Amino acid sequence: MTERSYRVGVIPGDGTGPEVVSEGLKVLDAVRDGFATELVGFDLGADRYLRTGDVLPDDELERLRALDAIFLGAVGDPRVKPGILERDLLLKARFGLDQWVNLRPVVRYPGVETLVPSHTEDDVNLVVVRENSEGLYSGAGGFHRKGTEFEVAVQESINTRHGVERIVRYAFDLAMQPHRRRKLTLVHKTNVLTFAGDLYQRVVDEVAAEFPEVQTDYVHVDAACIYFLDWPARFDVIVTDNMFGDIITDLGAMIQGGMGVAAGGNINPDEGGVSMFEPIGGTAPSEVGKGTINPIAAIGAMQMLLERAGRSDAAAKIDKGIRHAILQMPSMAAGQMGRSTGEVGDLVVEGATS
Ligand code: IPM
Ligand code: MN
Repeated sequence: MTERSYRVGVIPGDGTGPEVVSEGLKVLDAVRDGFATELVGFDLGADRYLRTGDVLPDDELERLRALDAIFLGAVGDPRVKPGILERDLLLKARFGLDQWVNLRPVVRYPGVETLVPSHTEDDVNLVVVRENSEGLYSGAGGFHRKGTEFEVAVQESINTRHGVERIVRYAFDLAMQPHRRRKLTLVHKTNVLTFAGDLYQRVVDEVAAEFPEVQTDYVHVDAACIYFLDWPARFDVIVTDNMFGDIITDLGAMIQGGMGVAAGGNINPDEGGVSMFEPIGGTAPSEVGKGTINPIAAIGAMQMLLERAGRSDAAAKIDKGIRHAILQMPSMAAGQMGRSTGEVGDLVVEGATS
């Protein structure tokens, strides 16, 4: 019998994206056992845009759609006006492939120092289920009388019953999984966003009736920021809209130990859907070529990719390797690692394969 082969699209992207992606691929190669992968490279990002004017042409989006999974480095470049690559590449891929879940685990690995000394090792273990297909990121809105003193800029938050219900259901299903604690918290701003927040709250209440074992509660997004610092253990699964999810997961990264360890997945859970995994951190233009960016987030993204592909054994090896590598870096403080990118990747490989 021939082994199953997965076609994985690789978008190294901009800045330090290519450096961390190559560590993730090194780890993939080391843990792969009993299945094959075919890597399909995509030249997307600032260089391509500056050279050709293309960001994510429709035919490339179709090529992405035909893959089994996508591994992405980072997108954004100081030479390109903010918004072009973010909207037309990253968001176009997320929306175009209907990756309606942005799954962002906030996990503190043993041995990682964070900026919150009062947190114990076990305090930080939650997952943010960020709605990834609508909300304020849908691009709805526009200018009126642009450039005049009477200018009006409208940015609309689109929240559909369908979109809210599918993300809420996903979060409840996740809360029921054996590794979770059966607690779901809606994070929103229902006291001010009385339409969108109301829809979210009603859907949570309705769906909760089907999940009697899951305890549900609600926290305003501003209060959630306080709890991330003060009492993160109160959270298990958080479900929230696109923008709140974007913002709180940067704070989440900091209580994990920095952007260098925070991974995420843009998931299309539907039949035949293709999902895309990435480190949450940015492109760090000033660090390019220095080997100073922690590749653990990218390696964690590869772990999530394999888990999603049904390769739990390989994913578990990566988890083991990450934990091993971190313990070999006792001074791994937030944002720094004191080792070069390549060394960290090698430490993960060593831990994963020993
Ligand atoms: C993220 C990023 C993106 C987002 C940007 C680059 C569009 O901040 O993945 O969190 O807002 O989703
Ligand atoms: Mn973000």
